[in-house]
Amino acid sequence: MATAHLTHEYPGELNDVPGWFWPLDHVLFSWFLERQERLDTRGDLLELGAYLGKSAILLGHRLRDGETLTVCDLFGAEPPDAANRAEAAKSYASLTRQAFERNYLAFHDTLPTIVQAPSSAVVDEVAPGSCRFVHIDASHLYEHVEGDIGAARELLGPDGIVVLDDFRSEHTPGVAVAAWEAVLNRGLRPVCLSSQKLYGTWGDPEPVREELLAALRGRDDIAVTVERAAGHRLVRTRARGKGLRPPSLPASRHPAPVPSIGAGRPEAAPVPGPAPQARPAARATRPSTGRDRARRLALDLLPPLVTRAVRRYRAAQRAKAGGAAGAVQSRP
Ligand SMILES: C[S@@+](CC[C@H](N)C(=O)[O-])C[C@H]1O[C@@H](n2cnc3c(N)ncnc32)[C@H](O)[C@@H]1O
Repeated sequence: MATAHLTHEYPGELNDVPGWFWPLDHVLFSWFLERQERLDTRGDLLELGAYLGKSAILLGHRLRDGETLTVCDLFGAEPPDAANRAEAAKSYASLTRQAFERNYLAFHDTLPTIVQAPSSAVVDEVAPGSCRFVHIDASHLYEHVEGDIGAARELLGPDGIVVLDDFRSEHTPGVAVAAWEAVLNRGLRPVCLSSQKLYGTWGDPEPVREELLAALRGRDDIAVTVERAAGHRLVRTRARGKGLRPPSLPASRHPAPVPSIGAGRPEAAPVPGPAPQARPAARATRPSTGRDRARRLALDLLPPLVTRAVRRYRAAQRAKAGGAAGAVQSRP
């Protein structure tokens, strides 16, 4: 947990929000939530552990009329025990609720329901059986995760989806114990695994798993393997290279301005198009040249805001060049 940094800039896009929520999980969250929408599965969304809002912002993007997103986080409040206090001091020392709210409101009109308290409080705030999707990503200590899994079970409706973060990370053995204990002893059925997260249900996993397998097999950017363990079918998913096609992501109200490149005076910003979908495929298939490497190095040395703006500008230029023929057009 050492990669995220707090920032006082408004996020120009979801990937500008610091956090531990990776592109393959953007795809999987979106797929599960879109499927629920398709099947008209109603219910609220719940996140335990929101940090600066990266995953909460995506959850908010999938809310439908009449549904509620609740996030529960300490946001700097006193942790309930010494081990949790040490965890918070090490990884989330400068987190504030205000920073979360600022990020969230960069993408959405209204805040979610916020429970600023230990995650054990959530069962008093959310009605039993009212949720269709619960993301467990608060404390990564066994006692807490074990309790959070129990809460999710109580709060999820039939066929609801629970996601357990960091179920197999080297630094979070307590989550691994709680996750597999839930699978072996508490009736949780895995639907799929990503590098970081276990997606499961206390309902029937077969229909959703089969549909997911069919959807993933139609994609060349996600590798899937299936194996059996202790009577469970484990579907493992992995991003192939860096060219993962992103799902629809919420747009920021503060997109980074695109500066002119090479010219000494400001130019009109190009209109950003749907190019990011095409860009990873183009990158993955074109052999890298010395010029490419020099350009990447130059980008890496620029301040992050400028780098982002330059990347967006180039993507927009590529989209323009691709023209009406669409996304595949930018493959060489
Ligand atoms: C790994 S971060 C969440 C990351 C976030 N979901 C994302 O995708 O960027 C864990 C969060 O859990 C919160 N947290 C830690 N212990 C907690 C507890 N006992 N109850 C509620 N929240 C807790 C921390 O304040 C931190 O914001």
